[in-house]
Amino acid sequence: GWKIENVLDEEIKVINDTVGPEEHVICALSGGVDSTVAATLVHKAIGDRLHCVFVDNGLLRYKERERVMETFESDLHLPVTCVDASNEFLSKLKGVVDPEMKRKIIGKEFISIFDAFAHELEQKMGKKPAYLVQGTLYPDVIESCPPPGSGRNHSHTIKSHHNVGGLPKDMKLKLIEPLKLLFKDEVRQLGRLLSVPDAFLKRHPFPGPGLAVRVLGDVTEGNALDILRQVDEIFIQSIKDAGLYDSIWQAFAVFLPVRSVGVQGDQRTHSHVVALRAVTSQDGMTADWYYFEHKFLDDVARKICNRVRGVNRIVQDITSKPPSTIEWE
Ligand code: XMP
Repeated sequence: GWKIENVLDEEIKVINDTVGPEEHVICALSGGVDSTVAATLVHKAIGDRLHCVFVDNGLLRYKERERVMETFESDLHLPVTCVDASNEFLSKLKGVVDPEMKRKIIGKEFISIFDAFAHELEQKMGKKPAYLVQGTLYPDVIESCPPPGSGRNHSHTIKSHHNVGGLPKDMKLKLIEPLKLLFKDEVRQLGRLLSVPDAFLKRHPFPGPGLAVRVLGDVTEGNALDILRQVDEIFIQSIKDAGLYDSIWQAFAVFLPVRSVGVQGDQRTHSHVVALRAVTSQDGMTADWYYFEHKFLDDVARKICNRVRGVNRIVQDITSKPPSTIEWE
């Protein structure tokens, strides 16, 4: 019968048969489950001929970079370079308010950073990396070309991964997609087998463009990103403390580009409004807004206003998908 242990052995064999003994492989880690499991699998097969890069685009959550780098290095021993490209991303996003434009700029900048990483690696090793690892899953594959009636097979066209946004132009990299026959829960099982920490495997999905789609309008305006990070962290930590994290598909805060009047201490304030969003879902295609207890919401709202400077009002998003989307942009 089908067993995840066999999938692991089989995949390692395929990778070893595919990648020549002198060849090098590169991989962009997003901090998500798919790219992490894919990279860990390839690393198990070919060791340090795998070269990973994690890009800090300045749009990550509170302590995200430190947290994922800790998992990559201490738990998984992945060979990973962390590139801090916050300034590059944020300077290109300055003044941009259109959501699709933001996504385009981020995608393009990502490719340019990844390209530079690949070229530096080529300089260092005196030869081009031959392969690129991508964490494409089976649903991504069937989305672009449904196999005719049958079960899973290898013959399909490949959708470019929307988080990576395409391949570096002149690198002529061949793809390794070790997860392309798996569903999300199978990827988690594989991850468990590869000792990826459970907390990591259970993390809520996070969009490739990061907090850029959660700060409405210009992400570089004032200290929007900093405020959002603090609010989001309090919200997520409260959800974890209440034991609700695993029952929720995604939970996050959204920074609104409006101010409202408040009173804090004996001071009148004119500060920011932050929205809280939590949904349940099977696959992200449809979603229901999550019912928190009033007591929970009351505690969270108080905590946020007490601790985060510049926020005096909290609202909750009570729309499902449809008619709304999960993200606000
Ligand atoms: P929406 O907002 O369309 O989101 O209901 C559905 C799921 O997709 C995620 N999402 C993205 N993921 N790049 C990504 O990698 C994106 O540009 C993007 N936009 C939305 C969203 O977080 C949710 O899980």
